[in-house]
Amino acid sequence: MNVISAVAPTLAADLRRHVVRHIQKTFDWDAFPSNTGYPDLQRAQMRYIGAGGSPKVGEPGTLKPEHFTLSLIYKHIGKYAACHAHEIEESFLIIDGVLTVGWEQNGEVVEVKLGPGDMILNARDIGHGFRNDGIEPVLMSISVDVGKPLPPRYLYHPKNTDPALARAFGAVPGKTLPHDPEGSHPLQQLMAKYVIRHSEQPTLWDPAGFTRKVYVGPGGVDSTTCRKEMLGIPPGAGVKPYVRDVEDTFLVLDGSLTIGWEENGQRIEMELGPRDLVFNPAGRSHWFRNNSAGACTVWSVVGTEQPESVQFGRA
Ligand SMILES: [Fe+2]
Repeated sequence: MNVISAVAPTLAADLRRHVVRHIQKTFDWDAFPSNTGYPDLQRAQMRYIGAGGSPKVGEPGTLKPEHFTLSLIYKHIGKYAACHAHEIEESFLIIDGVLTVGWEQNGEVVEVKLGPGDMILNARDIGHGFRNDGIEPVLMSISVDVGKPLPPRYLYHPKNTDPALARAFGAVPGKTLPHDPEGSHPLQQLMAKYVIRHSEQPTLWDPAGFTRKVYVGPGGVDSTTCRKEMLGIPPGAGVKPYVRDVEDTFLVLDGSLTIGWEENGQRIEMELGPRDLVFNPAGRSHWFRNNSAGACTVWSVVGTEQPESVQFGRA
């Protein structure tokens, strides 16, 4: 930690409390009770903000959520998650590997394959499951809103469904369709509104000198909860201090990011590495900058669905 001006022990401690280091965390293989006893459903969760669908709320070292949760999920090759639905919005951002996500309605399923940087927002009350059909493990970041954190309703769980049907998210052979934005099936057309491909989403240059791809919010998938963007911050680029009336968070995906807080004329900075996260509470004056020689990629979540209100200033 670098103290820029006067020594600011309280501010420094407060910032440290809002940073989650990847190496301080441990993946939890027992996060979801409904998976216990079903090796095919095995997955691991690392909770950064809130419990994110796990009943393990209030865990030490995990930040308290305001408008959204954020966790990492790890899925071995060949494992799947049973088709379920819930009243909350849930995004999957793929970090490594290829994930097959299925949406089910009336015994028909549409499946989409998502690669690194791709995202799907699972709409409220839509039956959804996922499976790793790839040749490498999948690591993804999941965020849910915390409006109504009710337990999921399982639609095709192996405890009461034929395992082959559960693995297919409820589709008997012949009832699975591929994701296709041009497809005529209503479920294909619905899913197409909720899938973001990293390679297809426009790269916007902010006047402050960094790039953004909008995933959720105006220009991306519609949401009533949060905005989610992928930021690209070139070496040397950074923004002046800014304040929001909601929280925002940065999860570093690649490279390193220097983040700063200020209060009463005191300024403090800290560097984050890959898979480290900072949670900037509402009202906190904060900034970011890339001090390194390589580009930095950041997953950003802002606790409102309203259009961006901050005009970033180039630092
Ligand atoms: Fe879900």
